[in-house]
Parts: sequence; C-alpha cells; structure tokens
Amino acid sequence: MNTHTLESTAAMMVANGKGLLAIDESTKTCNKRFAKWGIPQTAEAHRQYRELIVDTPGLNESISGAILYDETIRQKKDDGTPFATALAAIGIIPGIKVDVGAKEMAAFPGEKVTEGLDGLRARLIEYGQMGACFAKWRAVFVIGDGTPSRGCIEANAHALARYAGLCQEAGLVPVVEPEVLMEGDHTLDVCSEVTERVLRTVFRELYSQRVKLEGMILKPNMVLPGLACPHQKSVEEVADATIGCLLRSVPGAVQGVVFLSGGQPGELASARLNAMNVRYKSRLPWEVSFSFGRAIQEPALEIWHGKSANVIPAQEALYHRAKCDRAAHLGRYDAAIEADHRECSTSKMPSTVYAGSTQ
Ligand code: 13P
Repeated sequence: MNTHTLESTAAMMVANGKGLLAIDESTKTCNKRFAKWGIPQTAEAHRQYRELIVDTPGLNESISGAILYDETIRQKKDDGTPFATALAAIGIIPGIKVDVGAKEMAAFPGEKVTEGLDGLRARLIEYGQMGACFAKWRAVFVIGDGTPSRGCIEANAHALARYAGLCQEAGLVPVVEPEVLMEGDHTLDVCSEVTERVLRTVFRELYSQRVKLEGMILKPNMVLPGLACPHQKSVEEVADATIGCLLRSVPGAVQGVVFLSGGQPGELASARLNAMNVRYKSRLPWEVSFSFGRAIQEPALEIWHGKSANVIPAQEALYHRAKCDRAAHLGRYDAAIEADHRECSTSKMPSTVYAGSTQ
C-alpha cells in the first residue's frame, strides 16, 4: 500500500471546492429511473446516457471524481475510448462502486446488510487496471420501530471496514458510505441520534481493521427529519444538526466528508451544503463537499428523455447543478448562482460541444 498516494488522491477528491458525481446506479436502479421517462432500458441506452454525462463541457470545473458502475467501466464512448480513460483525460478521477447491493439480513426482518466481500481483492485489482483510483461501498439503515438494530449496524460497519482495508491494500481510496435513509416520520433529533450511533460504530470498526483515515473519504447522509415527519426544519437547522453530529463522531484525520443526496431536490441539497460551509467552515477539520447522484442528475435525465436532440440542454442542466454544488462547497451558493442557468446557452459553455450520437 502506498499511503502517500492514497492520501493525495483522497485530498484531490475534495480540493478546490469540487466534489464527486455518483453515476454508479445499478442496472436495476438505472432502469427504474429510465422507465419513469419512457427511456429504453438497455445497456446501450445506459451507455449513451453516461456518454452524455462524461462529455458535458466544463464538468471538470466542479467535479473531481466520478463513481462508475461495473457495466459502465467496461463500456466505451462512441469513439472507442473507455469511460474511465475519458474521465482521466479531462482531470476527473475515475471511481467504481464495488458492493453488490444491500440484501435482506437473516434474522433481522426489515433490515439489510450489504454484500460483496467475497472475491473483492481480485475485483479491486481488475478495477485498478481499468483506471479506477477510488471505490465506493454503501450500507443502508432504516429508522423504524426498533431499527436500526445493533446487530445490523455492527454487521454493516464491519463489512465497510473490511472493504476499506482491501481498497487501501489495492491502492484505491475507499469512500465509506453508511446511509441512514430519509423514509419514515422520525424527527431531526432521532436522525441525529441514529446517524451518530452508526458513525461511531463505523469508525470503531475502521480503527479495528487498521484503515488509514487520512486515505479515505466518508460519504454520510445529512441529518434530516424523516420525509413523513410533520416537523420539517430550516436549511440552517439541518446544517447545525448535521455538522454537530459529524463533529461528535468523525475523526479529524479523515480527508473529506462528501454527502449523498438521498433523493433531496437538487436546490435544497445545494442550500443545505452551502449553509454548513457558511456557518462552520473555519471550525471543520475536514472538507465538507458532495457526492450527489440524483441531486445533480435528475434535471438532466428529465430533459434528455433518451433523445439526441436534447443532449445539449441536458448537459447544460447537469453543468449547472454541478456548478451550484461547487459553489455550495465553497459557501458561495446563492439565488443569483441558482438563477444563472436560465441564461445558460451552449455559447456560454466552455470547451467542445458534445458530438456523440444518441437516439
Ligand atoms: P444520491 O445522491 O442519489 O443519494 O446517490 C448517491 C449515491 O451514491 C448513493 O449510493
């Protein structure tokens, strides 16, 4: 393991206000999102959509790294360039999702444990040869009656730590993602208590598995009231609860914290991230950035609709959300930046215009 490389890669992933773009939806999830807009659910349609994203002019101004799915890292652009190579060529670090999904946990009804440790050492070597410099593993926790249980938290935390150790051995930066889901009617305080319990357990296991915290990135949920909770909170209250929870549970040696969006609308996710950086930046031991999937992609996917005529406006929408999220990481997001996309035109977009073909 080259500790120095791990540290410098992890530092680059959260440098200069940039953040990560999660385009690692599994085939099932991608098909579900395509079905909503009547887009064909085929490997070729997935490939065309990922080409649209990777070829978005100026994406590298806001995005430091992109998380790919197994299918995507094996696919190529129309011109024959593998996606990982194309990303690296524009200064975006390629990453790869390596878990194989959250599965029903035996003896724990309603709870899930993430699988994928078997054969992981060999898969990491292969992904490294294909150009991946970091990896992601996601565990999920449901807040409900008696959940998440201690057994579920401990099993997932142990798997996350085993995964992180194997990544570092292979020279890949682990992105450790314990996600407390937004579904439910729980309050902000309950989400804070559960998130803290999960994070403390995860860091205990990371320590026990000898994971170098300087060579990893944490990808947590924001601390939010449940979607069905009648007491929703302001952007500032969410920022205070989230940063308070992280300061109590995440060691300062960790290079960066990058939030998942979890289904929050893009503008709200930007506003909440911005409030955290505006209110706390000088007190934070780690960069606080983003690793959004839906919060960056959703407008672009809706505009694209699987049609080549919509590629450029879809890229503009993607570029805009990524730009807003970089502004939020820097604590400079505001209404003017959000509104700027209405004037966004291809003539304003930097570098080359997308030339790939889609249908
Ligand atoms: P969302 O931002 O859509 O939650 O996706 C992030 C992610 O990578 C989930 O694993």
